[in-house]
Amino acid sequence: MSRLIVISNRVAVPKKGASANQGGLAVALQSALREHGGLWFGWSGETCETFDGTIHRAEGDGVNTATIDLEEQDIDEYYNGFANRTLWPLFHYRIDLTEFERDFEGGYQRVNDRFADTVMPLVEEPDLVWVHDYHLIPLGQKLRRRGMRNRIGFFLHTPWPPTRLLTALPSHRKLVDSLFAYDVVGFHTEDWLDSFQHYVTSMMGGTVDGDIVSAGGRTIRAIVAPIGIDTAEFEAAARSDEANFARDRMYMSATGRSLMVGVDRLDYSKGLRERFLGYDRFLASHPDRRGLTSFLQIAPPSREKVDTYQEIRADLDALSGRINGEYADIDWTPIRYVNRGYPREELAGIYRAAHIALVTPLRDGMNLVAKEYVAAQDPNDPGVLVLSVFAGAAAQMREAVLVNPYSAEEMADAIVTALAMPREERIRRWQALIDGVRREDVFWWCRLFLDTLEDASE
Ligand code: ADP
Ligand code: G6P
Repeated sequence: MSRLIVISNRVAVPKKGASANQGGLAVALQSALREHGGLWFGWSGETCETFDGTIHRAEGDGVNTATIDLEEQDIDEYYNGFANRTLWPLFHYRIDLTEFERDFEGGYQRVNDRFADTVMPLVEEPDLVWVHDYHLIPLGQKLRRRGMRNRIGFFLHTPWPPTRLLTALPSHRKLVDSLFAYDVVGFHTEDWLDSFQHYVTSMMGGTVDGDIVSAGGRTIRAIVAPIGIDTAEFEAAARSDEANFARDRMYMSATGRSLMVGVDRLDYSKGLRERFLGYDRFLASHPDRRGLTSFLQIAPPSREKVDTYQEIRADLDALSGRINGEYADIDWTPIRYVNRGYPREELAGIYRAAHIALVTPLRDGMNLVAKEYVAAQDPNDPGVLVLSVFAGAAAQMREAVLVNPYSAEEMADAIVTALAMPREERIRRWQALIDGVRREDVFWWCRLFLDTLEDASE
């Protein structure tokens, strides 16, 4: 079996027995790495004075990692710049928030070169190389230019934007050209794949034949592979003592009230503002329900050096304050808004206690919270998932209460529907959802992608 080299901006450093505290992607990649042997390569998260290519190696729980430090300027231009001020907003359809700076692009290319230079000597002839996400789109091409002949795959964890949005990026053609250095390119949904194929046929004169996409004399396979979670692990986490304790804390904090929960990185793509406004509309139009629901929004800060993230945070502070000020009573707070992360077992307990999950991003590549919420439910008394039609997860999770998050009225109606849903209907919808979440879990996803990559001819 070929060794696997995983390359991503962030590397989850494996610790024995700590897998339940890491995201599903980390768990899946670690298990694939254990199965194949190999290496996980990426940024250490640390800065250095002058980049010198020093590689920090670590080994834990059967997985080897290799990480590099980056210069302050690299982090500003690559991570806080091109990745998170340019590509992230653009790929999430927020052209209004997208910044176009040549320096960002320069830093992005430079860091991708640094990645290529340092990882190149670590890769052996038959290894499979798997590059992840928008931080590293040009990496495959840079590796090819350095003579790498291995099979190289790329997976995009965000949406792929429509052609007319993408063309606002001055270097759009260069970016898409570089994807043709890979053997296999993966997306979470048909929608993202369609947009990619549209760009190739309309802008590059390319052709599409099933999975095969050709342009400029180069042929790749472009596939849909929706990521899942480690469902069995999450179901077990939801039954742990820590989960029971968190669930009971939730119940006690809101006796007799219907609990609603939202769990998201504090990111403008998650539709938190619109969610708060939807809840506001619900409270305004249903005075009889005030005091009977309690909404907990957990949102740990993210990418705090980027202005737009500072702005959304200030915006939500003000909005939650305004809604609470307007509707709270001496013994009731409409929104509990918490800016911190929780261990996975506690999170599972919080999900289990919640009668409703509001997962309402304006745009999301997939959204794993939706799947975690379903996996955490009590089969005899499951809660209701309210899910945005603009989350990649909506393509698989059709039995959720699907909602357009831009409409405060629709959001308010969805809350009413979920609150009133009879137990039989909740069970029926949940059963269909959990079947899918179990069947198409993260291991299924990993196998689907790696089987395609292994089959790809050189
Ligand atoms: P994204 O990758 O854009 O952040 P996803 O929903 O796909 O969105 O994945 C988010 C992951 O981060 C999930 O596994 C979720 O459980 C985790 N997460 C989000 N917020 C918290 C939190 N407050 N505490 C712990 N884990 C969190
Ligand atoms: C999304 C991206 C990932 C990223 C994660 C957390 O899921 O697709 O690539 O790692 O958000 O963001 P951060 O900037 O903290 O790595």
